[in-house]
Amino acid sequence: MRICLTGGAGYIGSHILVGLLEDGHDVLVVDNFANSSPTCLQHIRQLTGKSFEFLEEDICNQPAISAAFSTFRPDIVIHCAGLKAVGESQKQPLRYYRTNVEGSINLLEAMDQAGCQRIIFSSSATVYGTPRYLPYDEAHPVAPANVYGRTKAMIEDIITDWVATDPGRSAALLRYFNPVGAHESGEIGEDPKGIPNNLVPYIADVATGMRAELSVFGNDYETRDGTGVRDYIHITDLADGHIAAMAYLGDHQGVEVFNLGTGEGSSVLEVVAAFRRASNQPVPYEIKPRRDGDIAEFFANPAKANDRLGWQATRTLDAMCADVWRWRSKYPRGFDV
Ligand SMILES: NC(=O)c1ccc[n+]([C@@H]2O[C@H](COP(=O)([O-])OP(=O)(O)OC[C@H]3O[C@@H](n4cnc5c(N)ncnc54)[C@H](O)[C@@H]3O)[C@@H](O)[C@H]2O)c1
Repeated sequence: MRICLTGGAGYIGSHILVGLLEDGHDVLVVDNFANSSPTCLQHIRQLTGKSFEFLEEDICNQPAISAAFSTFRPDIVIHCAGLKAVGESQKQPLRYYRTNVEGSINLLEAMDQAGCQRIIFSSSATVYGTPRYLPYDEAHPVAPANVYGRTKAMIEDIITDWVATDPGRSAALLRYFNPVGAHESGEIGEDPKGIPNNLVPYIADVATGMRAELSVFGNDYETRDGTGVRDYIHITDLADGHIAAMAYLGDHQGVEVFNLGTGEGSSVLEVVAAFRRASNQPVPYEIKPRRDGDIAEFFANPAKANDRLGWQATRTLDAMCADVWRWRSKYPRGFDV
């Protein structure tokens, strides 16, 4: 198939790209390196021994995206490009709405012009907001509590409305839980710029000695050990979910929402313990007060994706940590060294 992958140099997109190339697809990656590095794409070429097309471009540049689509003629778009930092989204809402929402509209317009009718969208469990019940299933009300989450909910609505106007169209809206891990080769992985927003990259910084200690925000939640619980999913399992969704869209019309998670939660202290086992390094931490807006726990009900996509997350938390450690041991400063 001919696949346009936006955000293909980013954390999630790069792992999807490896899977697509290994399956022999023709891929056009569109990325402006707003939060990634060209070195990532070099690693993927070396790792897979495969080539792919690449356009360095902002998805907000509609004419450039349309021109690329009319030449490449994708059968499907996997749309991962976007801004994803919750705290930053509260401070720069217009930038987030423009990149995430306007960028997505541009893509749909470019798809229309090129006759492309299928899209897979990187959504997020953030759209659910405060849990009314757990585990979240896809019927849980959508009530995002921050700008980032609202951009995701808006894009879901826009894609749904776009699909509704033509019976030939189809879309999979994939609500990711907490992706963690790296490719088992250690050649690609998460490479956040600046201070990591996510737990595992931060723990990895502490284990490599780049940061002194981890701050654990709150140990008085109503959870097993008092610390926050999240549904961590191995990045390769998440990438495989996209391959499964592509196959699903091949013979289904309309829009479907799927949770991509494991269905199991792990606490902050359980992740710290798993990382210590994987790395054999100390991970000092200090308990700090709860942060405003943090939720005690959430995790997925992945039954719909398991049943309809024939997909299931299989890799353990220990495997996630071992793969991160391999990546960080090979490339302590990520791609830009
Ligand atoms: N990582 C997570 O925890 C998580 C969870 C749920 C959903 N998501 C979503 O999955 C998608 C991918 O996330 P990620 O973790 O790989 O993030 P990432 O920042 O590593 O990757 C996003 C990629 O998009 C590119 N990009 C950003 N703005 C762009 C623009 N205007 N034009 C072209 N390219 C642009 C970045 O350079 C980067 O390569 C995002 O849409 C994110 O919101 C991520």
